[in-house]
Amino acid sequence: MGNFVDFKEIEKQNEYVNKVKLLVNGKGKKAFVYTLGCQQNEADSEKIMGTLNKMGYQITENEKEADVLMVNTCAIRDHAEKRALSIIGRFKHYKAVNPDIIIGVCGCMSAQEHQREKLKHSYHYVDFTFGTGALHRLPEFIYNALNKKKRYFDIDSDKPQIAEGIETLRQSTYRAWVSIMYGCNNFCTYCIVPYVRGRERSRKMEDILCEIRDLVEKGYKDITLLGQNVNSYGKDLDEKTNISALLNEISKIEGDFWIHLMTSHPKDASIEMIEAIKSSPRTSGHFHLPLQSGSDEILKKMNRHYDLERYLSIIAKLRENNENITLTTDLIVGFPGESEEDFNLTLDVIKKVKYDSVFSFIYSPRKGTPAAAMENQIPSEEQHRRYDILCDAQNEISKKINESYIGTAQKVLVDGKSKNNEGVYTSRTQGNKIVHFECEKDYTGQFKTVKITRADTFALYGEII
Ligand code: SAH
Ligand code: SF4
Ligand code: F3S
Repeated sequence: MGNFVDFKEIEKQNEYVNKVKLLVNGKGKKAFVYTLGCQQNEADSEKIMGTLNKMGYQITENEKEADVLMVNTCAIRDHAEKRALSIIGRFKHYKAVNPDIIIGVCGCMSAQEHQREKLKHSYHYVDFTFGTGALHRLPEFIYNALNKKKRYFDIDSDKPQIAEGIETLRQSTYRAWVSIMYGCNNFCTYCIVPYVRGRERSRKMEDILCEIRDLVEKGYKDITLLGQNVNSYGKDLDEKTNISALLNEISKIEGDFWIHLMTSHPKDASIEMIEAIKSSPRTSGHFHLPLQSGSDEILKKMNRHYDLERYLSIIAKLRENNENITLTTDLIVGFPGESEEDFNLTLDVIKKVKYDSVFSFIYSPRKGTPAAAMENQIPSEEQHRRYDILCDAQNEISKKINESYIGTAQKVLVDGKSKNNEGVYTSRTQGNKIVHFECEKDYTGQFKTVKITRADTFALYGEII
């Protein structure tokens, strides 16, 4: 019990799976899942697809032929919510043509009361909504919708738990997501995640290791350990463990594969963890460490619990005797009260650290978060002006770093044919750099070595050796 869904509930859901199967199997029914948001949503959608598949639905990429339509939503910025609503809006038409179609909305947006209310009252054709913590109950929701029971808007997900053993339909045969923990305790003042994904819950180490061993056995070569703050892994578990112990256990698994962490919080980045990352060639290639702002005053208003000095000391430790590690970060531009001076401090940091790439976001007020009620909200025009300056500065840095790769040989994991370029394949290095190369043979899903001959801001180009 506690953080884990109990056995009886899992049994109950399995019964629903069987009941749905009886109604659906052999009838060529199809399901479509649209995913918005971060890698955690991608991972959740693989479980949603796995569950639908288990119940007898074939997964389709064509929404027009689907009998079940699901949108897995994101609430991180206004833009994400608008997109979700526009996609849900598009589904209205399908239901008008065929009233038997089932429409479900899940994920972070549907875990907010005001959005749930909106979906209930303004989107009458939506059959059910649930948040990330109720994912294991999908069979029940589908069964009820098939039987034309009352529309259902779940609020259980306000107290989310971990459910192990949900079927996963992975979208790749060589890159995999492995959630190691769910939720967030940090309450950064701008962020909606703790409100929609609940408190931190860690999976048991043995469950994680089992999943990774199985993936490696199946030939997966790139595994991302997911959590909002993977550095605090294990703090809520009875067994005494932490992220360093987990990384050390993973390093004992035999095989040729890379491990990424997504995401780390600077306040919990211990020396022990940095050493664990550096000690294994599997983990030492890339690190993503969100900074958010280069101004200590803004960091304080964001409730981030570190200052720039501490942040830079972590970066220095990561780079010590490990110069080739690639570094990336997240930045927020135009947080309430951000002065020109604060913004320039952020600009100074990117010039000093020289990140390989930066994910910059324009601050978007989220209903119910402290920052949304702060004074001195920055006008959109000014936010955009600063955003453009930041992107230009970073593009120049990324280009210079990428050019320094020319002439080197890089191990890459091949992702398949490039969408826009005939005969060109796309791949990524362990440091997450995109590498394009021409090749006659298809090496998708395999490690190869590419000699870099050219580079620009966003990618490297080369020849396979
Ligand atoms: N847990 C991760 C971040 C998850 S959200 C972490 O703490 O690093 C991914 C990124 O979205 C954040 O790092 C932040 O830069 C951005 N973000 C979050 N809330 C935002 C908001 N209200 N407006 C703009 N960007 C936001
Ligand atoms: Fe949001 Fe902060 Fe938690 Fe990241 S650590 S998910 S930014 S509250
Ligand atoms: Fe979005 Fe939820 Fe991820 S709000 S960014 S999908 S945790």
